Amino acid sequence: MTQNGPRRKVTLTTLEALRARGQSAVCVTAYDYPTAAFADRAGVDFLLVGDSAAMTMLGHATTVAITLDEMLVFARAVCRGAPSAFIVGDLPFLSYQVSDADAVRSAGAFIAAGCDAVKCEGGARVANRVRAMTDAGIAVMGHLGLTPQSLGQLGGYRVQGKTLSAVKRLLDDALALQEAGVFGILLEAIPAEAAAYVRERLDVLVYGIGAGPHVDGQLVISHDILGSFVGDIRPRFVRRYADVDAVITAALRAYGDDVRAGRFPAAEHCYPIDAGDEAEIRHARGVPAERPVEAIA
Ligand code: KIV
Repeated sequence: MTQNGPRRKVTLTTLEALRARGQSAVCVTAYDYPTAAFADRAGVDFLLVGDSAAMTMLGHATTVAITLDEMLVFARAVCRGAPSAFIVGDLPFLSYQVSDADAVRSAGAFIAAGCDAVKCEGGARVANRVRAMTDAGIAVMGHLGLTPQSLGQLGGYRVQGKTLSAVKRLLDDALALQEAGVFGILLEAIPAEAAAYVRERLDVLVYGIGAGPHVDGQLVISHDILGSFVGDIRPRFVRRYADVDAVITAALRAYGDDVRAGRFPAAEHCYPIDAGDEAEIRHARGVPAERPVEAIA
């Protein structure tokens, strides 16, 4: 909701208009109904149902373990929670690399789940797959730089595009994706100057995660900024806005203390019944009528 009623649905036209006004799009990952609803209420423009769900939600060490079916469960929940934000489903490992038909079917499943677009990793080598998806009428976002599905080839979580020749290779990949019809490209973990160089040479939207300020939108992983990631990856580009981990742990500890000490549930947490019925049940249990409810062991 806004002050004037429900927020209007964010579309590609809205995202283009933000760029035209020089306003950065606000993008976060979401994997579940409540986070999507909170993000929508907070006015977030763009939600990525990222395959980072493999790590943030399912506890895997990398993103490659998540399946298309698992991703679709998350995508449907996010779509139910966020009626206004632009929602992008992340094509998981091996859901698009093998064939054009796989790519179109997998992307189509996200669209059928309610997503507005899909994202896939890689440059020139996936351009044919991207073309197949865009030819099928599906809005596709590319993802370059640090691409976690190719972690083995990249040698780990490493900053990409650190030299002019590396940035030029990145641009070649970006141009191949643009040619194949993507509406935008996400740049992950590259220096700010490198991102600026690429963005200045493209017509499509360029968003960044750990790519500095000279892009059209900023993406973060919700668990990183909320402080709810159970793991020890702490990317340099993350600013924490909350400590949800500490809040949840403290609340659960306090609940446990209350249960163990007999402070919960208290009388106000018990369903009242008619006094006559209560007395009858007590009598049947052999409990004295005058004994208060909270004292019953
Ligand atoms: O899965 C994801 O959240 C992503 C971001 C890291 C870009 O792809």
